[in-house]
Amino acid sequence: MKRIAFHQGWEFALENDLDAFNGFGFDKYSDALGAPAHYYDYSCWERVDLPHDWAVSLLVDLRANTFAGARANTHSHRFMTERRSEAEPVCHVGWYRRQFVPEDGWAGKRVFIEFEGVFRDAAVWVNGVYLDRHLSGYTSFILEITDHLIFGEVNSIAVRVDSDQYEGWWYEGAGIYRNVFLHIAEPIYVKPWKTAVRTEPDGSVSAECIVVNDASEPFMGEAVFEIAGENPVRVPVEIAPYGEAPVHAALQISHPIYWHVDHPHLYTLTIRIGREEHAERFGVRTVGFDADRGFLLNGEPFKIRGACVHQDFGGVGVALTDNLQFYKIRRLKEMGANAYRCAHHAPSPALLRACDELGMLVMDETRLFGTSPEAIRQLTDVIERDRNHPCVFIWSLGNEEFSVQDKPHSFRLMEKMTRIAKRLDPTRPVTYSGNNGPDFTGANAAAEVRGVNYIRNDGNQGGRWLDGYHADHPKQPLIGTEEGSYVLSRLGAKNDLGSGQLDSSGLVTMPWGSTPKGWVKYFEERDYLAGSFLWTGFDYRGEPNPFITAFIASSFGAIDLCGMEKPPFYYYQAWWTDQPVLFLAPHWNHKPGDVIDVCVFTNCEEVTLFLNGRRLETRAVKRFDAPVFRVPYEPGVLSAEGICRGSMLHAGLRTAGQIADLRITEVLRAGSADDTAIYQIEAVDENGVFCPTAENLTEVCLDGGVIAGVGNGNPACFDPEKLLPGEEAIVLRTFQTEDGLYTIPPKAPNHLRCRHDWLETEPAGNGFEDDLRVVAYYAESTVPDRTISLSTRISHVEDCEYIEFERLGGDARIFLNGEEIGNNIERSGRLSISHARPYRFPCRFREGENEITVLSIQKEFSDPPISGQVKIGRMIPVTSQKVRLHFGRARVFVRSQTPDQVRLTARILP
Ligand code: GAL
Repeated sequence: MKRIAFHQGWEFALENDLDAFNGFGFDKYSDALGAPAHYYDYSCWERVDLPHDWAVSLLVDLRANTFAGARANTHSHRFMTERRSEAEPVCHVGWYRRQFVPEDGWAGKRVFIEFEGVFRDAAVWVNGVYLDRHLSGYTSFILEITDHLIFGEVNSIAVRVDSDQYEGWWYEGAGIYRNVFLHIAEPIYVKPWKTAVRTEPDGSVSAECIVVNDASEPFMGEAVFEIAGENPVRVPVEIAPYGEAPVHAALQISHPIYWHVDHPHLYTLTIRIGREEHAERFGVRTVGFDADRGFLLNGEPFKIRGACVHQDFGGVGVALTDNLQFYKIRRLKEMGANAYRCAHHAPSPALLRACDELGMLVMDETRLFGTSPEAIRQLTDVIERDRNHPCVFIWSLGNEEFSVQDKPHSFRLMEKMTRIAKRLDPTRPVTYSGNNGPDFTGANAAAEVRGVNYIRNDGNQGGRWLDGYHADHPKQPLIGTEEGSYVLSRLGAKNDLGSGQLDSSGLVTMPWGSTPKGWVKYFEERDYLAGSFLWTGFDYRGEPNPFITAFIASSFGAIDLCGMEKPPFYYYQAWWTDQPVLFLAPHWNHKPGDVIDVCVFTNCEEVTLFLNGRRLETRAVKRFDAPVFRVPYEPGVLSAEGICRGSMLHAGLRTAGQIADLRITEVLRAGSADDTAIYQIEAVDENGVFCPTAENLTEVCLDGGVIAGVGNGNPACFDPEKLLPGEEAIVLRTFQTEDGLYTIPPKAPNHLRCRHDWLETEPAGNGFEDDLRVVAYYAESTVPDRTISLSTRISHVEDCEYIEFERLGGDARIFLNGEEIGNNIERSGRLSISHARPYRFPCRFREGENEITVLSIQKEFSDPPISGQVKIGRMIPVTSQKVRLHFGRARVFVRSQTPDQVRLTARILP
C-alpha cells in the first residue's frame, strides 16, 4: 500500500460557531447537510494542520472538570452530579473538513483513510456520504473510501468529533489529535493490521497475513516474503473473487541480532503479491516472566525501571507531532528509565516507533476493561495494530477497576480478555493492575502476571505483604504497575498545602504513594519482582492532586509538562544508569534566616557539602540513598563534592541577583515542517547566573513560524497555553443602492420557509384513471424576482484577504472591482447555497480605492439582501505571546514551514 500523509490543510470549526444545521444524511446517499455536506463553504473556518487539539485552546475554566484539565469541552464535572448549566457554553463538538482531488493513478485501486487517533466519537463522511463512527478516543481506525470517490472533481472529507463523554480521569483533549493517512492499494492487497510476525531466538520468523482479493477474477499467484539480506520465501496463494485468505510463511534470519533497549535492532519484512507491496517492521527478541526471577528479556533477568505516562504535553495538549513523542522517550531514557507504561490507553503509533527505535520497553494498555463488544473491539484493535512492535513486552488489560476487582466475576472478565489477547498474540504475557493489595478474589487471581499498583496499598499487612503474597502464590509473576505518586514542584523549597506550595524533594506523597527511594529500593532488592513503573514520568493536565479544585494539572512528574526535569530525575539517573551523578536541589536564593532542606541526588560513595567554601558535613551514601542536609541559608555558593568510582564530582548552587535578562536556548530542533521545535527561556542576573525564583511575565516574539503553544510547568498557571490565530477586520455598515443608502440591518432571524399553497380541482381525463383529483400546488414566489445592486467603496484594505457576510438573503453574486469573487448560488467547489453561513469570500484588494458590489436576486420571501456583520479582514498567525516564568523558566513550542529560518526573541514585561 502506498501511504500518503494527509495531515496538512484541514479546516476546523466548533459546532457552537456554526449557524447552519448539520444533517448526517441518513436519508439519502450523499445527502448530508451543513458541515458534512459535499459542497460547503468553510472558508471562514480556522485553517489547521493535524495533529490538532481544540481543548487546549479553550480558556481555563475552574467550573469545568479540573480532573480533565479544566477546559469546557465536556459537560461532565468530577465533583458535580449535574451537567453544567445551559448558560455556560460547552465546546464539545468540533468539525473538520479537507478537500482533495483523487489522483488519476488511483483509478482501479482501493483507497483507505486511516485515523491514528481522534478524541473521540468520530463520525466520518466522504463527499457527503456518512461512512462510519468510531467511539474510542485512543484506538486507530481505517475506513475504505474507494466507492465514494469522484474522479476529476474536488472531493471532501468531513469529520465530526464529539468530546463530551470522558474515557479517563485525566485531560484527554479534543479533536483529530494524531496523524491521518490515505492508503492506496491494488485490488489484491495485504489487509492492514492483520499481519503477525513472530520470531524465535534462532532467527526463525513466522509471518502470517491476510490477503484480500477485491476483484471479480480468482487470484492464483504467489506471495513473496522477504527480509533484507535473507532468502525470499515464495508462497502459493489462491483466493476466490471478492474473498480473502490467510497466508503464512516461515522465514529464517541467518545471524539474528536481538532487539534490546541498549541496542534496538530492527528488521523489515516485505510481502509482495502481484503489484502490491506491504512492509512490516519487527525485532527478534523474547520476553517472558519467571515467578522467581522477574522479567526476562532475551532470556536474561531484566529489571523494569519504568514510567507511566499520559499522552499530553506542554502547549500542544494531546496533539503531539511525532518528533515530540521521540523527545519524550529520549528524556525518559536520559533519566535511566527502560520502560514506558501507556497509562491507561492505546498509544500513538509514533510513540511505539520511538520506543522501537530508541530502545524503550512498553506496557501497552487497553482503555476499556471488560468483555462488552466495545471493550473487545478496543482490545482487538490495540493488539492487532501493535503486536509487531518489539518494544511492546506486555499487554495491560485493566487498571484499578474498583467496582469489580474484589468480586469473583472480575475473574471471569479477566480470564476472557486474556483468552482474546492470547488468540491475537500468544507471544506476550498479560497483566491487570490492581490496587487492592493481597486480594486474590477476582482479576488479580486471573492475571497471568499480577500488576501491583502501589506497595502502600497493603491491605493493612505492612510493607512485607508482597513477600507474603509471593509465598502464597509462588507461580504468579509480579510486576509493579504504578509506584511513586509523590507530588512535587520543579524547584520549590517549601510545602504549604494552604497556599498550594510543594517542594521539589519527592518526599511528599499521596497516602498510597512512596518516595523515590521508598519504591526503587523495594523493587530493586527483590529478585522476584519484575520492577515497577513510576507514577508519572511527566506531569499531565488534570488530576491535580493534592489541590484537586484549585490546580489544573498534576504534580506527580519526574519531568514537568513542558519537558523540564524536577530534581528527583537525578535520583533515578544516579541509581538506574552507570553515569556518575551529583546534583543539588532545590536552589540557593532564599530569605535570611531560612533553614533549607538540601537534597543531594548522587551515586557517589560519600558526599561533602560546603557553604561559601566552608566544609559543612560529609556523609556516606549507601545504594539507593537520597541524603537530605539541613542548611541554614546564607547567600553565596552552596557546593558539594563526592567521589564516584574513583573520580571526583562537583556540583554547586549560586545565589542569583535581580533578573536582568532572558537566555534563550533551542532545546529541540525541528527538522521539517512536520516537527515542533522547543525553545527554553530562562531568567538570568547581570552576571548570567540563573534566577531560580523568577516568576516574571515575558513576551516572546517569533519570526518565520507560528507559536504552537507556551508553557512553564506550573500546574496552577491559568494563562492561555495556546492562542488562536487573531483576526484584523474592518466592519462595514452601509451600502449604496439605486434607491439610496442601505444600512445593514441586524442578522435576519432563522425563519420558516414560506411559500404560496393552493388547491386546484382537476377533471378526469388525459389517460389517467382518476375520476376527479384535487391537487395541492405550491409556488415559491408569485411576483417576479427583483435584482438589487448594492455597492460600497473602501480604501486602505490592501492587506486584507477576505470579505465576509454573516447573512446573504436571496441569491447573491459578489464582485470586487468589477470581477466576480464568489456567490452563494453554485453548488460546486466549496459552496452550498443553503448551508454556508457566514459566507467568506477570499479575495485580493488593490491599493487605493476598491469597489465591492453585491448583485442580489430578491424573491418574494427572501431575507434582506445583506444582514448581520459584514467585514473585510485577514487572519494573523500567532507570532507573539505572553508567558510567565515559573521557577525561572518557560518554554515555547514552535511550528514552521521553514524551521531553519525561525528567530525567537523574548523580553521581560514590566
Ligand atoms: C492510581 C491510578 C492512576 C492515577 C494515580 C494517581 O490509582 O491508577 O491513574 O490516578 O493513582 O496517584
